[in-house]
Amino acid sequence: MSAEATELVDDADFVRVCALDDLTVGTAAAADIFGTRVAVVRTGEREVHAVNDTCSHANVSLSEGEVDGCTLECWLHGSRFSLVTGEPTGLPATQPIAVYDVRLEGDDVLIRLTPENES
Ligand code: FES
Repeated sequence: MSAEATELVDDADFVRVCALDDLTVGTAAAADIFGTRVAVVRTGEREVHAVNDTCSHANVSLSEGEVDGCTLECWLHGSRFSLVTGEPTGLPATQPIAVYDVRLEGDDVLIRLTPENES
């Protein structure tokens, strides 16, 4: 799945990215939100995470990697990133990736670009 979001849903800066049914549990998909590439990961029936799609080690798309529980593995060198904190759990990546707020409204997946792990 690849989606492009260009319209704000409400005044809290959430944008609708896709329908929940567009996402398969245990897989990642890429979305473009106002030019920012986001990896959207469904980890459960009504559990969806969103992180920056670019690995912090090199310019590689994380949505092409494997989902393992609540982590996303970079396909190039194997660093895994927590979908909750954005922190890498192993080398070679040492820097976190941005984590974004996700809201489910019925069958709609909404994402807010303000990084949850940056102040
Ligand atoms: S490019 Fe992702 S771990 Fe090296």
